[in-house]
Amino acid sequence: MTQSNTSSVGSIADQMDRHILYQKSVQDPETEIEFLVEKYKELRGKEPVVLREDFCGTAFLATEWCKSNPKFKAIGIDLCDDTLNWGQKNNISAAGQEVASRVNIYKENVLDFYKEDELADIICAFNFSYNILKPRTTLIDYFKNARRGLADNGLLVLDVFGGTEAYDTVEEEREVDEEDFNYIWQQAKFNPITHEMQCYIHFEFEDGSRIDKAFSYEWRLRTIPEIIESLEEAGFSKVRCYWEEFAEAEEDADEVEDADTVATSDDEEDDEEEDVYLEETGEYYEAKEVDNQESWISYIVAEK
Ligand SMILES: C[S@@+](CC[C@H](N)C(=O)[O-])C[C@H]1O[C@@H](n2cnc3c(N)ncnc32)[C@H](O)[C@@H]1O
Repeated sequence: MTQSNTSSVGSIADQMDRHILYQKSVQDPETEIEFLVEKYKELRGKEPVVLREDFCGTAFLATEWCKSNPKFKAIGIDLCDDTLNWGQKNNISAAGQEVASRVNIYKENVLDFYKEDELADIICAFNFSYNILKPRTTLIDYFKNARRGLADNGLLVLDVFGGTEAYDTVEEEREVDEEDFNYIWQQAKFNPITHEMQCYIHFEFEDGSRIDKAFSYEWRLRTIPEIIESLEEAGFSKVRCYWEEFAEAEEDADEVEDADTVATSDDEEDDEEEDVYLEETGEYYEAKEVDNQESWISYIVAEK
């Protein structure tokens, strides 16, 4: 990843750690753990124990999984030594010996990893990391290998992003809750023929200093039907899509337009009629058909 600080020595950007900024602005392990446990219980009628976090990076989710329940165990897999070492020191070891004894991380390729004594109840690949695997055949190989790494009745869970805006070059900036910095998501290039896209995460601080290209992603953007068909081809027995529930926003339109909301118009012929603003609830329901949206994030859950 190519990172550049547009900052002088002593600026805020110069003192920041990009992994901490990423964890604070992108990751939300509490919500993810709630979703994973709830869906496993719903589909399997019991609590999961072992979570395997593929493309785990700093193993933040794997560590929080083990912190959330003393019975839980986690496996993390990533190719990048530096990121794994950072996570070992700052997340896993920092959580204390007892928690650390339940998190096993491996520097391996998710396409090859297999250990008979490390089968998981749930494997997750979050923050769209499977899009790194560009050819369809490689994605299917990954799904096949993940299926092999699941215990009986195991689930593979993926997050997906899309919407009409996903095919555009956009730059979105937001303040990170309770933090003094801004997170900037840039979709710099999108090729409609191959669906290859180039994205960056930048951070900006109160003194105007920035970390440009703190993280850089070269992805092939997948569609939901493409992912579902690839999972079925890899042998998964049942694949479900979960869509986020939206609620009508209470604030007036000017305020909510700046927030992460979706605007819909009930009656396009009536210009006088006000748009309805919908707010994300963080709750997901199983869906087969939904209205089109500018942007969305959903979950796919595949049963072994
Ligand atoms: C976008 S980060 C994901 C971080 C974390 N999972 C999250 O939810 O934010 C992608 C990670 O995938 C790792 N990676 C890329 N290809 C991989 C592969 N074939 N096997 C294992 N890890 C891989 C990279 O080293 C990087 O740390």
